[in-house]
Amino acid sequence: MPESGSKDDARGAGGQGDGARGAGGQEDGARGAGGQGEGAMRDAAHWVRWHQTYEDPDSALSLRLRLVQSEVREALDRQAPGPIAIVSMCAGQGRDVIDVVASHRRREDVRARLVERDPALVAFARRRAAACGVSRHVEVVEADASLVCSYAGFLPADLVLICGVFGNIGEGDIRGTVSRMPSFCAPGGTVIWTRHRRPPDLTSSVRGWFVHAGFEEVSFVAPPGTVLSVGCHRFVGGSAAAGSAAGGNSQDLDPDLRLFDFFGDGALPA
Ligand SMILES: C[S@@+](CC[C@H](N)C(=O)[O-])C[C@H]1O[C@@H](n2cnc3c(N)ncnc32)[C@H](O)[C@@H]1O
Repeated sequence: MPESGSKDDARGAGGQGDGARGAGGQEDGARGAGGQGEGAMRDAAHWVRWHQTYEDPDSALSLRLRLVQSEVREALDRQAPGPIAIVSMCAGQGRDVIDVVASHRRREDVRARLVERDPALVAFARRRAAACGVSRHVEVVEADASLVCSYAGFLPADLVLICGVFGNIGEGDIRGTVSRMPSFCAPGGTVIWTRHRRPPDLTSSVRGWFVHAGFEEVSFVAPPGTVLSVGCHRFVGGSAAAGSAAGGNSQDLDPDLRLFDFFGDGALPA
């Protein structure tokens, strides 16, 4: 399965004013679902339909995917020799991890767990991993991504993906999830996250919360003409807020801890 274009390619594509297409606002009518419990106002195929926008390479969602894939690739490039643990929250079709791992020189070192609740998307991701020849490296589990226990055996991770999540959970849950990332990450571990920039634009707060938790910013890409953004932070520890200067303190995590309540409907390019 070929990877998508480079970060530079993707940045260029972002200048085309496609922020409202694809990932952005194509399902405005469903926006009211926020806050009423995931699934309360949508049918079983809701998230499957949401992912169909990836079939259009010119969509904002496809642009976002290329940016995320570029960060995944660079995070793998940075890894020291040895095993590489990856976790992805609310993984959807898993294109961001699967497609990059498939063609990366470190693929034999990767053990990834993709956590997704929708059975049809889980099946899609498993098929894609098999087609890409990475089923041994990428396991897709049908589970609740908001629960710490869903990542058992994979923490602390070298790479954590939180894509399509921060636009679908409350501000307090975003902040709480970021504050747990020092325990999710191995020393030097990377978190890749996405969030739309519609008002209220929380992205500068999110970036600050990562820094406060002991992360340094690797990149923050907000393509002009779109409302999407992709952030990448690397755990360097040392912050009082991080709790542990060394990081990777996943034993401190309560496996029953719930990180967030996912109530959004994906109407925004979360
Ligand atoms: C906006 S999509 C993002 C998918 C993928 N990460 C991406 O960026 O393409 C959100 C996904 O979260 C899944 N989801 C929502 N709540 C979840 C939960 N509690 N546990 C696991 N997956 C969840 C939905 O089924 C959906 O596939």
